[in-house]
Amino acid sequence: ASTNSDYDLSSSIDDGQGLRQGLTSYGDAHFSLFLRKVFIKAAGYSDDALSRPVIGIINTHSGFNPCHAQVPQLIEAVKRGVMLSGGLPIDFPTISLHESFSTPTSMFLRNLMSMDTEEMIRAQPLDACVMIGGCDKTVPAQLMGGISSNKPVLPLVAGPMMPGSNKGVRIGACTDCRSNWAAFRAGAVDIEDISSVNEELAPTAGTCGVMGTASTMACITAALGMMPLQGASAPAVSAARLRVAEQTGKNAVAASLMKEKSRPQTVLSRESFLNAMIVLQAIGGSTNAVVHLMAIINRHPDVAGTMTLDTFDQIGRTTPLLVDLKPSGANYMTDFHNAGGMAALLTALRPLLHLDAKTVTGKTLGEELDSACFTPFPYTYEIIRPLEQPLYPHSALAVVMGNLAPNGAILKAAASKDRRLLIHSGPAVVFENTVDMAKRIDDPHLDVTERSVLVLKGVGPIGNPGMPEAGVIPIPRKLAAQGVQDMLRISDGRMSGTAGGTIILHVSPESAVAESVFGVVEDGDMIDFNLETRSLNLRVWDDEIARRINSKSKSTECRSVGRARKVARGYRGLYERCVNQAELGCDFDFLTAEGPKNV
Ligand code: FES
Ligand code: MG
Repeated sequence: ASTNSDYDLSSSIDDGQGLRQGLTSYGDAHFSLFLRKVFIKAAGYSDDALSRPVIGIINTHSGFNPCHAQVPQLIEAVKRGVMLSGGLPIDFPTISLHESFSTPTSMFLRNLMSMDTEEMIRAQPLDACVMIGGCDKTVPAQLMGGISSNKPVLPLVAGPMMPGSNKGVRIGACTDCRSNWAAFRAGAVDIEDISSVNEELAPTAGTCGVMGTASTMACITAALGMMPLQGASAPAVSAARLRVAEQTGKNAVAASLMKEKSRPQTVLSRESFLNAMIVLQAIGGSTNAVVHLMAIINRHPDVAGTMTLDTFDQIGRTTPLLVDLKPSGANYMTDFHNAGGMAALLTALRPLLHLDAKTVTGKTLGEELDSACFTPFPYTYEIIRPLEQPLYPHSALAVVMGNLAPNGAILKAAASKDRRLLIHSGPAVVFENTVDMAKRIDDPHLDVTERSVLVLKGVGPIGNPGMPEAGVIPIPRKLAAQGVQDMLRISDGRMSGTAGGTIILHVSPESAVAESVFGVVEDGDMIDFNLETRSLNLRVWDDEIARRINSKSKSTECRSVGRARKVARGYRGLYERCVNQAELGCDFDFLTAEGPKNV
């Protein structure tokens, strides 16, 4: 039934709750509220419903995104949780990104999704917002947008898919996609076999079932205190996942009542991000997560600029790899969940964590962990090692620097297949871009030995917009045929979280930038890499490097950051003009908390 306070338009309307938020559209705030109520009533809501905290739910369901196939069910469960706590749930769409159906790359569209997320949260009269994401770039996009909107936001992920089975062997996207395809190319698997494998690699809805980018970002989000601990790993098709969704709905109503305290810029602190970095190292997470975390950090006004790639490296030096999941180990996300998931991992990492970091529930991370009250059991230790018996002692992910990468580059040391390459010098074999590489890499006359260093240019954030996952340069066929399995490879691109090898990525500044040293590496130049000293250098005199840079910037269309290389229109033009380098997160400079630096 209507009450005076619901409907009396002469009462105060600037309490900022529910439908009363942001009433400026028509000048007269009372008339704006009156109109707003006219239209929302078309949806059949009563005044009682409209007097409740309004909880937005972002719907990223899409026929092109099978990772998010269960989102409609999750929305139902979130709504149940919201209503059980006395709120009014209202769902709305934003764009959805799937890895395989986003050309040129999903990374190219991540910032667009973050803008969509931020502006829709800002625009609509909601008191808190559940953001349902999952597939690789969606979770970072939502965290970036949610933090910038600074309304209370509660991420909920789709959850990992189940593993499939082929002839009794468990398989799952996407580490096993690569190994099975390689076996098919080598003739070890025939066309019928590879077809039946194809049916089983992604056997259910949900995100890739290994420690790829989606799982990494889910674990990081829980470590940040933004979602329930179980929320990182409960399988997409499980009842547990629906209960996490219901709980998230309840948490959203509670957050809406905590007002200032539950805003993401209040919840998240330097300590939260340090916890996220500790977890990233301990799970041997995706290298992509380094880029995403830098972008997320640089959206936070109090933390932006104070944490750098160096912080990741420092954390890595004291954090062991504990989680035995593909691609670094042998198991799947469902195993991680059954072993205790994030509650078990954070319990193991407890001595390293900043337990006073706040969470979105108002409790500290330490209090959340206390109430999870997790006791390890034998299976836990098979999947999540104790601190004293790690899979890899420290620095699963390392940051290297030198004249070849003055602003840094990343290496997943734990995924190196030939550890001798972690200290290595060799002559460069240079590919100017992916087309050049495709043309020549298998040429029997290519001048390459196993001591060579394979260099791929032109796949940075600007050079090939969206920084494709081309960093896993294939071993030249003639060397592969001799049994060479790993070589030192360097690029300004990314690699899939599900891949491995001695592969240096995200070199900055990228080759497309005029002053990039990486951009002027030539065939035969000696490259010196030493993981111990974190150094990556080009053994060429400084004046020769300067001469090459000078002649390159005169002769090609390369550019400085902040200036478009060519006149591109639309979103691509915006992207090329404004994307920053990998060490800053490949965000648009005008979206960061500190704003553009290059203008
Ligand atoms: Fe969506 Fe891997 S394709 S998580
Ligand atoms: Mg991926």
